[in-house]
Amino acid sequence: MFSRKTRAQVRTIWRWMVNIWRALILGKDHVLPFVNVFHPTHHCDANCRGCSQKERMQDGNHEDSSLEQLRIILLRMFKISPALYITGGEPTMHKELIAVLKMADEIGFWPISVNSNGLGNRLPEVLCYADRTILSLHSVSANGQARLLGVNPKSVQRILENLRTFNRLALKHGNTLSVNCVLSTLNVHLAEDVLKLCLKNHIPLAIVPLIMDYSPEISRASEGYRVGYVSFVNKVIQAKRKAPKLIVNTFRYLEQIKELRSFRCRPSCIMTVNPDGTVQNPCPVKYVYPGELLGSLLEEDALPILQRTLDFEHSFWGCEFNCCKTCYAEPALSLAHPLSAIRAFVR
Ligand SMILES: C[S@@+](CC[C@H](N)C(=O)[O-])C[C@H]1O[C@@H](n2cnc3c(N)ncnc32)[C@H](O)[C@@H]1O
Ligand code: SF4
Ligand code: SF4
Repeated sequence: MFSRKTRAQVRTIWRWMVNIWRALILGKDHVLPFVNVFHPTHHCDANCRGCSQKERMQDGNHEDSSLEQLRIILLRMFKISPALYITGGEPTMHKELIAVLKMADEIGFWPISVNSNGLGNRLPEVLCYADRTILSLHSVSANGQARLLGVNPKSVQRILENLRTFNRLALKHGNTLSVNCVLSTLNVHLAEDVLKLCLKNHIPLAIVPLIMDYSPEISRASEGYRVGYVSFVNKVIQAKRKAPKLIVNTFRYLEQIKELRSFRCRPSCIMTVNPDGTVQNPCPVKYVYPGELLGSLLEEDALPILQRTLDFEHSFWGCEFNCCKTCYAEPALSLAHPLSAIRAFVR
């Protein structure tokens, strides 16, 4: 009767209200996940400096799952949240990615998002089957983007040349193509061109500072870089005032990363699942006791795993670090400032 999107939105709003109750009224540290972050593979065709997944990709501990196993993993993730964010590794390197997207649609996930570096030739297929496709683009010059990804410039040329075509294809299939630009000392002076390109082509842009050793790399850079960074974030804020839909980040998040302020981080608001169905500890720095892995979705449901391994009763405790990546910061900020979260949602 109701669409996949409506059913998912009702569940997400309910989850947000329960989490507000837990966080603000009861003062608990633990909140339930808003989103499943799934890594179908830890293989990747690039070699980005500071990649947050580098260690996992190098240790080779988590094999890709078969299609049958992927169905079990998806069904168990759906019980936790209808939002599915597929990342990796490079998700387009998983041979069953399109089958996973079709299965996720059948199960009722919304939004089904895929984050890709766009290097392979499967981005057009993804644009036909996902709800949201996020392309990592940190520079508009082939040389700049190739240097940041540690690949040959020829392999990124195709993405830059076809961005408008990709955007049209996405719109045709009810998908939204957006760009994620990671800001570091290597590209902060080039990022304005990414903003201009996105505004010109009506492609929504999200920005995030590069996080290294649990804090933004730019916070340790010399003053020139920090001034350039603040000036760029201000331009993004101005762009959002003029065209709110073309900047994905909330105003609150943009102000927070501009100042590189820390926030009341609640890492349990995302559930991250490895290619083999194991559930990652949301933050081994904050939750020291359970180890790197909490359990496996191939063996049991997610909720008992979370209940057994994370303390649902402990009062909120802070953290000295500042991993202001969107996936940690936006949900945590929406719980700390519910009124501005409602304003951002209805806008
Ligand atoms: C780990 S990647 C996986 C998906 C895909 N391989 C890609 O690069 O788009 C997910 C996103 O995180 C970003 N990212 C990677 N390492 C990061 C870090 N240390 N800090 C902030 N963002 C990071 C990437 O640029 C990408 O947009
Ligand atoms: S493309 Fe993505 S997964 Fe691969 S190294 Fe870069 S950030 Fe990491
Ligand atoms: S800021 Fe959040 S994710 Fe980073 S170390 Fe602290 S609790 Fe963990």
